[in-house]
Amino acid sequence: MLLTAEGGGRQGKDVRPWKARAWAELEGARARVLGMLEGLPEAELLRQHSPLMSPLVWDVAHVANYEEQWLLRALGAPAFTDAAFDALYDAFRHPRRTRSALPLLTPEAAFAYASRVRGAVREHLDALPEHGPEPLLAGGFVFGMVAQHEQQHAETLAATLQLMTGFAYHPRARARAQPGAVARREVLIPEGPVRLGSDLPWAYDNERPAHDAWAPAFLMDAHPVTTGDFLGFMADGGYDDARWWHPAGLAFIRAEGIRHPLFWIPRGSGTWQRRRFGAVEPLPLDEPVQHVCWYEADAYARWAGKRLPTETEWERAARGGDGVPRPYPWGDTPPTAAHATLGGDTWGPSPVGSHPAGVSPDGVWGLLGDVWEWTASDFRPYAGFRAFPYREYSEVFFGPDSKVLRGGAWASAPVAVRSSFRNWDFPIRRQIFAGFRCARDAR
Ligand code: AVJ
Ligand code: FE
Repeated sequence: MLLTAEGGGRQGKDVRPWKARAWAELEGARARVLGMLEGLPEAELLRQHSPLMSPLVWDVAHVANYEEQWLLRALGAPAFTDAAFDALYDAFRHPRRTRSALPLLTPEAAFAYASRVRGAVREHLDALPEHGPEPLLAGGFVFGMVAQHEQQHAETLAATLQLMTGFAYHPRARARAQPGAVARREVLIPEGPVRLGSDLPWAYDNERPAHDAWAPAFLMDAHPVTTGDFLGFMADGGYDDARWWHPAGLAFIRAEGIRHPLFWIPRGSGTWQRRRFGAVEPLPLDEPVQHVCWYEADAYARWAGKRLPTETEWERAARGGDGVPRPYPWGDTPPTAAHATLGGDTWGPSPVGSHPAGVSPDGVWGLLGDVWEWTASDFRPYAGFRAFPYREYSEVFFGPDSKVLRGGAWASAPVAVRSSFRNWDFPIRRQIFAGFRCARDAR
């Protein structure tokens, strides 16, 4: 079977030389991070808001230190700091819950460090060869990696801000879309070939190599499961019915006393509100449910007589049942606000059915953006995987402890979202912007 090259080997239709794109993505990520943290009191930047998260100021200096390591030192430019400093901001050296006890840079010093590194990167970038022979520079890879890394940490910052309870954070949110009624269907994806993974220049090592696989026919939900759908599971006693639960999931929700998605607030006789950042709001029934763990998604799917899609099925749905390896479900145009809710400025998902321009060729909606979608699959390397440029990005997380999430959330940036993009987390995690959709066998 021969499939044509994804996006003609480019980043979708983006044909800018990589330096222009790299600089725009780096600066876009920085503007977002600074905008998110603007006006927060110093004490809130330094505080450990949750044992699951770093102090906000740690993320700021960590992204700057990562940028210094990969865009200055690794490319032969003079550095500002050394290995002893790196250790403070090494995610593997210190668990998140211990980071507020480290001798971290103050907020002022962390922002100044980030801006000095960026200034040096600007100068160094101009001097670099456009067609570097080094593997790090091919297609500007390492710049894409650093821009994606900062955007992934912007998403992490959003999760920390959502967990913060001692300070009312009121983001300036772009208005939600208001779609009409949507048909809640299943879409038959016929048996056929799927190009998994990517050889795009900015793809991460865990997406490589692109390879062909075969998927059996299956039915994919046209939309993610909504909060309204999830209320149906709850009203039917879903959290109390052991039949629906993976044994480890049942043990987890019983030990933790979990009876509803994170950040929901029971108001009695079946009514609910939810806290979103600093505001308590009515529960929007038409939004994809978020802040559920893999075990909750798995239980819901079993209750509904369905299951979670495998990673292969998810990617086949995103590529399209005709086997064309589109970089995005709608084709090769980079994502805009018409295609998907991405980039963080809505501060929440859009109602299902908001993006007719983002529908896949088979009629599957909302695959990219809004909420990460839990899949049935463990995070494993593709055949021929090679750690690049370091083992700690992906390789050390492969195995049965991590479940794959696909598609990106409202808080994910377009640069870090594509049909091949793989995210992962432990099946008990609920603070990430994760929801799910269901699938089932076609027969
Ligand atoms: C891919 C989201 C699981 O946040 O742990 C950030 C991304 N890697 N810095 C994470 C990442 C290094 C990673 N996830
Ligand atoms: Fe990081």
